[in-house]
Amino acid sequence: MTSSDLTVIVLAAGGGTRMKSKTMKVLHRIGGRSMIGHVLTAVQETAPSRVVAVIGTQREQVGPHVLEHAPDAVLAVQETQDGTGHAVRVAIESLPEAPTGTVVVVTGDTPLLRGESLRAFAAAHADSGAAVSVLTGTVEKPFGYGRIVRNDAGTVEAIVEEKDCTDEQREIAEINSGILAFEAGFLVGALSQLTNDNANGEYYLTDTVKLARAAGHTVAAHQVDDVRETEGANDRAQLAELGRILNQRIVTGWMKEGVTVMDPATTWIEADVVLERDVTLLPGTQLLGATLVREDAVVGPDTTLEDTEVGAGARVVRTHAQLAVIGMEANVGPFSYLRPGTVLGAAGKIGAFVETKNAQIGNRSKVPHLSYVGDAEIGEDSNIGAGTIFANYDGKQKHRTTIGSRTKTGSNNTFIAPVRIGDDAMTGGGTTVRQDVPDGALAVSAGPQRTLEDWKARKAAVVQAEEEGEDA
Ligand code: UD1
Ligand code: CA
Repeated sequence: MTSSDLTVIVLAAGGGTRMKSKTMKVLHRIGGRSMIGHVLTAVQETAPSRVVAVIGTQREQVGPHVLEHAPDAVLAVQETQDGTGHAVRVAIESLPEAPTGTVVVVTGDTPLLRGESLRAFAAAHADSGAAVSVLTGTVEKPFGYGRIVRNDAGTVEAIVEEKDCTDEQREIAEINSGILAFEAGFLVGALSQLTNDNANGEYYLTDTVKLARAAGHTVAAHQVDDVRETEGANDRAQLAELGRILNQRIVTGWMKEGVTVMDPATTWIEADVVLERDVTLLPGTQLLGATLVREDAVVGPDTTLEDTEVGAGARVVRTHAQLAVIGMEANVGPFSYLRPGTVLGAAGKIGAFVETKNAQIGNRSKVPHLSYVGDAEIGEDSNIGAGTIFANYDGKQKHRTTIGSRTKTGSNNTFIAPVRIGDDAMTGGGTTVRQDVPDGALAVSAGPQRTLEDWKARKAAVVQAEEEGEDA
């Protein structure tokens, strides 16, 4: 037997009614992944020989989701939730042949579990030669957990579930984390001996401990370093708490990698985000999905970036961006809204109260103030005047506006797409561009200005004349 022959069984057939949700418990998300997604990520880090996920409730959703995180996993369907022992039997029966080596059982709702803890536990089990190893924790409120019952010599004799505890056993603070490791041959034999004569009428996986002791086998217990790693979330309050702890772990991890985080408590970073050294995150920043921030960039305060790439040395202030690319040394914000397909070139600018969508803005080009830029391509070194609307929608279809390089458009323009403005061109203030503007041209569409001289004095004279008429 080698520690490399490892089968991991993930239990995820139970529903989780306390979530009060149409979404099954293990699919609830924290830190950018479902709970079971976090567990499967940790499981994959142990380089297992095979993974079996036991699914039942909402298997149509849970099954495909499991395969996203663990494409090689075997899905075992447990039709009725008759207990954790029954679930593991279903898992073993779904395999083409009986497992050998080590079998580790984990539950699908412990999102803080780390791969290295699981790996260390599996290795310790394999080295010990025990038939069963239990990952235990010591908690202040053991209510609801299976208690670890040891004899006077300290040997683990049994795990007793809450409902089956004597008053004395209920005082035991050492609990079963729900993560157990087995010598495969012993497990297969023990599963067939489980009975359901207990308070819940279920087949308990935990009864394998008693069976091991009765047969004279060794049972080992390993204390988990941080009990939070094996905590499950049963309701939304616990989910939020685990989410906070997970975030703290991720934020601390990035600070150790050389990222400055001014206020860790208000900075949220999801699991798949990547940050380079000397990035600075200011308070109220949320980095979500596959966001990447390159070195020396400063993000925040009060900024949400989802699946967005920020170039080296860029500055992003009070911004909401999704599926956007911000070039190196670029400036974004404050109060900017970058929608999918926004690509801002190096040293470019998207300024205050500007919304962009499917817009490629070239190097050093600027959209500084109060504009909507949709379905557009802007060349390099161009400047878009304040208050400009790229009118991309004719009520039926979206059209593109193309603007060349070194072009300066006036304030309060409207570009009625499809339209093209060339290189080195200009437009006057208030221009509505309906026809293409060639390279080097100036386009103006506003009519000539009418100025009425002495308007104020003439108006006052008229008013006075009217008042005198009334008095007469
Ligand atoms: C279980 C353990 C308990 C431990 C606790 C840790 C048993 C009998 N008890 O209790 O010692 O302290 O976990 O959280 O093992 N599941 C199935 N099919 C079933 C039943 C459960 O897949 O038929 C899954 C659930 O979805 C869940 C996990 O197994 O992911 C644990 O089940 P749960 O009912 O929560 O067990 P606990 O009563 O918490
Ligand atoms: Ca539980």
